[in-house]
Amino acid sequence: MVGDEHDDGIFDEAAAATYDADVADRFQPEVLGPTVDVLAELAGDGRALELAIGTGRVALPLADRGVSVAGIERSRAMVAKLREKPGGDALAVAIGNMATTRVPGEFALVYLVFSTLSNLLTQDAQVNCFANAAAHLGPGGRFVVEAGLPRLRLLPPGQRFVAFDASPDHVGVDEYDVANQLLTSHHRYTHADRVDGFTSQHRWAYPAELDLMARLAGMELEHRWADWDRSPYTSESTSHVSVWRAPPST
Ligand SMILES: C[S@@+](CC[C@H](N)C(=O)[O-])C[C@H]1O[C@@H](n2cnc3c(N)ncnc32)[C@H](O)[C@@H]1O
Repeated sequence: MVGDEHDDGIFDEAAAATYDADVADRFQPEVLGPTVDVLAELAGDGRALELAIGTGRVALPLADRGVSVAGIERSRAMVAKLREKPGGDALAVAIGNMATTRVPGEFALVYLVFSTLSNLLTQDAQVNCFANAAAHLGPGGRFVVEAGLPRLRLLPPGQRFVAFDASPDHVGVDEYDVANQLLTSHHRYTHADRVDGFTSQHRWAYPAELDLMARLAGMELEHRWADWDRSPYTSESTSHVSVWRAPPST
């Protein structure tokens, strides 16, 4: 649109059109079920806010469980896909940067899943995101982050590439810039009629750094699991689900 400065980033119309199919494994009941169970329990009777709500993969089933869900999302194209789905029109979604955009009201739960914190490419931006999450929470409210861990233990000295998928319809390779905590994720998808792909930039951080970001925002760690099944977080974990809590009212 002429004069429209908005930038959807890599989740543009083409990416939004195939997003749900591209991440079909993340829609499987064995993945989504435990995710929504944990989030619904943490929201309780309160409202929930999803940072980077996307096409509503998590928000819509959470709303189906009776939780009032709002969202913040950078990509208009992703929100357009959300709006096409049953119940998608009912969710209040603000277009903007999750590190800075405020939405009205107070929430019992703010959550940011699918490693999307890493889309913020500087430490400052991630710190701001934690502060923004905390600013939306009522007393005792919770901020939940789900993220994969960097696969640094697979990197021999001198190497920077880790292949993480080579299935018939997808090849994925992560390229690490260890000194700067950055990675470029390279994806190639084989569709029935064509091959396409994309690269995305990420900043990874270990949970200990996120705990400091949470403390800067006035929150304390309540839980850290390896996954949504609440399995213990260990040295062998490849992901984490972390829950930080805002102080109770005094
Ligand atoms: C991998 S998708 C996850 C979408 C959804 N949360 C899910 O789990 O399916 C990442 C989403 O984050 C959004 N995003 C990336 N950076 C963002 C930012 N700074 N502020 C708001 N949304 C952002 C993208 O537009 C995209 O919709």
